[in-house]
Amino acid sequence: MRLKDKVAIVTGGARGIGQAIAELFAKEGATVIIIDLLPQGQHVAEDIIASGSVAEYHAVSVTDKIGIDTLFENINTTHGKIDILINNAGITRDRTLEKMSMDEWDAVIDVNLKGVFICSQAVAPYMKANNYGRIVSAASNVGLRGNFGQTNYAATKAGVIAMAKTWTMELGKFGITANAVAPGFTLTDMVADIPEAHLDAIKASIPLKTAAQPIDIAYGYLYLASDEARFVSGICLTIDGGTAR
Ligand SMILES: NC(=O)c1ccc[n+]([C@@H]2O[C@H](COP(=O)([O-])OP(=O)(O)OC[C@H]3O[C@@H](n4cnc5c(N)ncnc54)[C@H](O)[C@@H]3O)[C@@H](O)[C@H]2O)c1
Repeated sequence: MRLKDKVAIVTGGARGIGQAIAELFAKEGATVIIIDLLPQGQHVAEDIIASGSVAEYHAVSVTDKIGIDTLFENINTTHGKIDILINNAGITRDRTLEKMSMDEWDAVIDVNLKGVFICSQAVAPYMKANNYGRIVSAASNVGLRGNFGQTNYAATKAGVIAMAKTWTMELGKFGITANAVAPGFTLTDMVADIPEAHLDAIKASIPLKTAAQPIDIAYGYLYLASDEARFVSGICLTIDGGTAR
């Protein structure tokens, strides 16, 4: 029980990597608060409760500053603290540089970058009050190496890594660590539209010759959210089968 009695918020916890994080953290003893726009987040929370752990689902967008501020205040009041924030919610709107619309640029910046900022800013006072905190945010190996057709997405994922390093300096004296996780190609709904032939090519390009499952990534989040990682801050943990070297 590596997260016994911890209160953990997981954004984007309704499916994919976020769902795996929510379920793993619950198994490790955390009270898990899922924030997502998809109603299936409620089912994820109910399944966790059925397995004997504690979970809640809240339908709020990470881009909604007032909604997030209000929700985090309520969570802190109800549970007495917030120990862990997992900024996992993210979207893609892929297009090459010259074809990308301002709407596509803005949508990805809003969720992947501004959403991480909004949630982290909202949680900081509660973590400071407790002299304890773990903020772990979703980067991507694309944020380290770029990717064809992902100007917007790559920029946000590089930004997430830089924000973690910045918060390490600002919040470290309050017992708060800030880190990023950079997954490589992971089999979730986010990549479900990729044609089979292209999927095979992607797998062949990965040194370990396979794609990640969500749980492979969730274990990295667990480490950075645990007490065991108390001296780890400002890093980007790449979990990508050896792709970004
Ligand atoms: N799948 C991959 O190959 C991969 C690789 C590297 C990084 N990542 C990153 O990992 C994270 C999770 O990816 P995934 O593959 O599980 O994606 P996913 O699309 O399966 O899940 C993302 C979740 O975020 C939620 N979400 C989106 N916008 C939101 C908003 N405004 N407010 C609240 N919730 C919102 C979605 O509803 C969804 O449940 C993302 O940040 C993604 O960029 C994924």
